[in-house]
Amino acid sequence: PAPVTVPMLQGFKAEGRRIVMVTAYDAAMARLVDPVVDAILVGDSVGNVCLGFDNTLPVSMAMMNHHVEAVARARPRALLVADLPYLSYHLDLAETIRNAGGFLQRGAAAVKLEGGAARAPTVRALAECEIPVMGHLGLTPQSLHAMGGFKVQGRAAEGARRILDDALRLEEAGCFSLVLEGIPAELAARVTERLTIPTIGIGAGPACSGQVLVLHDVLGLLPGRKAKFVRTYTDGYGLLQAGLADWAADVRAGRFPGEAESYAMPEAARAALDD
Ligand code: KIV
Ligand code: NA
Repeated sequence: PAPVTVPMLQGFKAEGRRIVMVTAYDAAMARLVDPVVDAILVGDSVGNVCLGFDNTLPVSMAMMNHHVEAVARARPRALLVADLPYLSYHLDLAETIRNAGGFLQRGAAAVKLEGGAARAPTVRALAECEIPVMGHLGLTPQSLHAMGGFKVQGRAAEGARRILDDALRLEEAGCFSLVLEGIPAELAARVTERLTIPTIGIGAGPACSGQVLVLHDVLGLLPGRKAKFVRTYTDGYGLLQAGLADWAADVRAGRFPGEAESYAMPEAARAALDD
């Protein structure tokens, strides 16, 4: 199948075809998800999911570049979107463009950044440098302290209004698509209706143009970590641990390796040893 491009993803909304995006953080995961999804996000959620941080704030450009490069080496046909981490797009435009453009040089086709109308000049500057930008509104994890925790956004009247206005401003600034996270389903439906660009929801109800989840959440790889907006489709942790336990039991019982996993000794070499 042909590689998914930014214009193709935008066309999905017009065609009424829902977009499927999931995170991946290395080449093996990229190969796992690529046959299934339309877009792959190398999210800064790599900080929580893979690197053991409590939130995404400590994630650096160096960490992101490491994971973007790994995913890009899998040469996915899905659209590869790279998440700009905290402080990589807040300081000045030159640094922002260098960071975002660096993602494209490493094989991403687009970048994602969090925030509302305050990001409009940044989005415009990136678009002028031929860098497609995915916006991200609502429960934006990099705003953890400003929000006072990971809380659903846009429930109060003025919050809902602001999210709709922010969405319009981001579209106007040149975002090609928008992630809506942790907002009421009805608000996400309104935003999706008002925008031309596709919305991709996570905890934002069924009316978005598509959905995104963290891969480890879909596959049940992180037991004891399940938000309301997650549906787990496989007991990945249980399945993988059972496989591992079978191997460990075989090792301990002397059943692994067997003949099939061992190398035979050629006759000549055996004779040489016997000398
Ligand atoms: O970092 C991430 O994984 C994300 C998505 C869940 C939207 O930003
Ligand atoms: Na993110």
